[in-house]
Amino acid sequence: MALLLKTGSDRGPWWRAEFAKALPDLEFRQFPEVGDANDIEFALVWKPDPGFLRTLPRLKVIFSLGAGVDHIFEDPHLPAGVPIVRLVDEQLTRQMTEYAVLHALRFHRQAALYEALQREKAWRELPQKMTGERRVGVMGVGEIGGAVARALKSLGFDVAGWARGPRALDGIPVFAGAGRLVEFLGRSDIAVCVLPPTPETADILDKRAFAAMPSGGFVVNIGRGRQLVETDLIAALDSGHLAGAALDVFRQEPLPPASPLWSHPKVVVTPHVAAITDPRSALAQVVENIRRVRRGEAPTNVVDLKRGY
Ligand SMILES: NC(=O)c1ccc[n+]([C@@H]2O[C@H](COP(=O)([O-])OP(=O)(O)OC[C@H]3O[C@@H](n4cnc5c(N)ncnc54)[C@H](OP(=O)(O)O)[C@@H]3O)[C@@H](O)[C@H]2O)c1
Repeated sequence: MALLLKTGSDRGPWWRAEFAKALPDLEFRQFPEVGDANDIEFALVWKPDPGFLRTLPRLKVIFSLGAGVDHIFEDPHLPAGVPIVRLVDEQLTRQMTEYAVLHALRFHRQAALYEALQREKAWRELPQKMTGERRVGVMGVGEIGGAVARALKSLGFDVAGWARGPRALDGIPVFAGAGRLVEFLGRSDIAVCVLPPTPETADILDKRAFAAMPSGGFVVNIGRGRQLVETDLIAALDSGHLAGAALDVFRQEPLPPASPLWSHPKVVVTPHVAAITDPRSALAQVVENIRRVRRGEAPTNVVDLKRGY
């Protein structure tokens, strides 16, 4: 019985040492040194090569090295019937929440304007809205978005969420379904996107979405790059309809040097670092799930293949 790791990082030796401590009877292999493919029962992967996972005939579980599983779904030849497990990580959720709160507060407290005034040595007071007057819309209120919405509400913002179906969220109103998106965006001075990438959420932040938002609105995208139509965002910013955006994810990563987003005065760019998987908490989840499978139980945090997240 063996686990195969395929990681984009240099943490292979760390994983090997930690698995040896936690599951000493589990053989550890690291891609591309697969050995006998019949031995591999668990794969822990980031961006597996298309078609590769199907070459493992005894594979029982595919573990994603991230909260998102789009990097696995990009493989059109996934093995049928093998559950895909995503990370649900408290540390990752906290980091995502920090990012959303940071940029919501920067916008709300007009940080960029005060920084510009400081450069001019200008002592000037700007009109300031109360937090309760600032409406925030969190697109996707699952593990991460739910925590983001609760944190923003605790600061006093007027928060609502948007999800596929109805859900209770500690007194935060949740608009459900595509039919309520325009209404939801119409009350989002700040729209925070924490959606998973699916065919339904692709290009969702487009010119129609921006037109639905109130004038002077702000966009935070920490979902996935393909959810944002970058040219539509730039047009909405340049027209003055939107006031700014904080973007952590992009259609092409790394963001090409020629992208106008890099130097746009109303855009904050970060290199997909809103949250970085903490391997220690990731390890604990994978180990626990392997133990469950060995006991004949189903793993937790299995991705719903029909929904795509
Ligand atoms: N930037 C980063 O560093 C980073 C790090 C980690 C994760 N992420 C991104 O964050 C995403 C969310 O992670 P999570 O753990 O919070 O996922 P999750 O628990 O599965 O929650 C997803 C949420 O999105 C909603 N949703 C999905 N499709 C929808 C649609 N078509 N219309 C409306 N709502 C829809 C779901 O609605 P229901 O509640 O009705 O199911 C749910 O509320 C990940 O998929 C990943 O792309 C980014």
